[in-house]
Amino acid sequence: MMPAGPTGRMTLSRHILECQRRQPDATGELAVLLTQLAFAGKVFAHELRRAALVGDLGATGATNVQGEATRKLDVFGNQTIIEAFAHAEIVAAIVSEEEDEPRQIASGAKASYLLCVDPLDGSSNSDTNGVVGTIFGVYRSGQPSEARGVRSGLPGTGREQVAAGYIMYGPSTVFVYTTGDGVNGFTLDGDIGEFLLTHPDIRCPAEGRYYAVNLAAAREWPAATQAYLDSLGDPTGRSRGYSQRYSGALVADVHRALLEGGTYFYPPDRGHPDGKLRLLYECAPLAFVVEQAGGRATTGETCVLDVRIETIHQRAPLAIGSRVEIERYEQFLNTRCDCATRS
Ligand code: AHG
Ligand code: MN
Ligand code: MN
Repeated sequence: MMPAGPTGRMTLSRHILECQRRQPDATGELAVLLTQLAFAGKVFAHELRRAALVGDLGATGATNVQGEATRKLDVFGNQTIIEAFAHAEIVAAIVSEEEDEPRQIASGAKASYLLCVDPLDGSSNSDTNGVVGTIFGVYRSGQPSEARGVRSGLPGTGREQVAAGYIMYGPSTVFVYTTGDGVNGFTLDGDIGEFLLTHPDIRCPAEGRYYAVNLAAAREWPAATQAYLDSLGDPTGRSRGYSQRYSGALVADVHRALLEGGTYFYPPDRGHPDGKLRLLYECAPLAFVVEQAGGRATTGETCVLDVRIETIHQRAPLAIGSRVEIERYEQFLNTRCDCATRS
């Protein structure tokens, strides 16, 4: 038998199509949506590679709705995603970190999805050639609006996501996604311009010896969270304890936890009483991916996927990663979510 040549490899497009075929009521629209996201990811990866050469590093001088300084690459990433859907009547609206309000895209009957996106995650890494990412969560949708101060058309919780994932722009570009039927990872072969399956059926190890957290505000954390942190250093001195890895990009730290086990956590502090990370386009998509891989994600009080969605930029505390490690986190906080018993 001839050895499998490159065209025998599983491309992302074929994988998406085969997932679609397993859903008897699928219309093919979600497949197009995911394919367009991958296309935007390729365009963004290309721009990130040459950003320093074409003057696309640095700040724009503006701030986004979160009050954060916007970088040129934030704007490029946002534009790239919006353009990828402008001509295809698939997405009714896009909720983006970089947009004050939901961006209405299409109103036809076929435009039946809400796309939530963090175009450039880890933007503080972008000027120093560090890892960054794009995070996405997809819902069947109405058209969210804020008419007369009343929000409508928003999903109830993150559990309603029909697909979620992330693109990680590191030494290689990786596309990881779930449609609720496991998690698969693809690596971009830049020479042929295709994402190829390199990480089939990702399972998050139940335990892991890495943790990712920014310690700058540790003195402001709840006492129970500080006690958890102390435990990671192994106060008994009997073993080496956990090793810290913090990249500044949620995508990269969650990707490590997904593949090698461990945790990422961003608890509430004085500056971020509800945590720093945003529910719709950071916490919930990654929680869906990690739960699908057998891991867990909690706010410290409840499963991230069960948090009621009230506003598009709402924040939530996050602890995410290996099942057993998140259980340890919960033991310190004296909480245990229902989803722990479901997984
Ligand atoms: P973004 O670049 O989309 O604003 O997200 C940054 C997020 C996340 O990627 C990262 O883990 C965390 O915020 C970093 O925050 P600190 O600088 O407070 O550590
Ligand atoms: Mn982010
Ligand atoms: Mn961002």
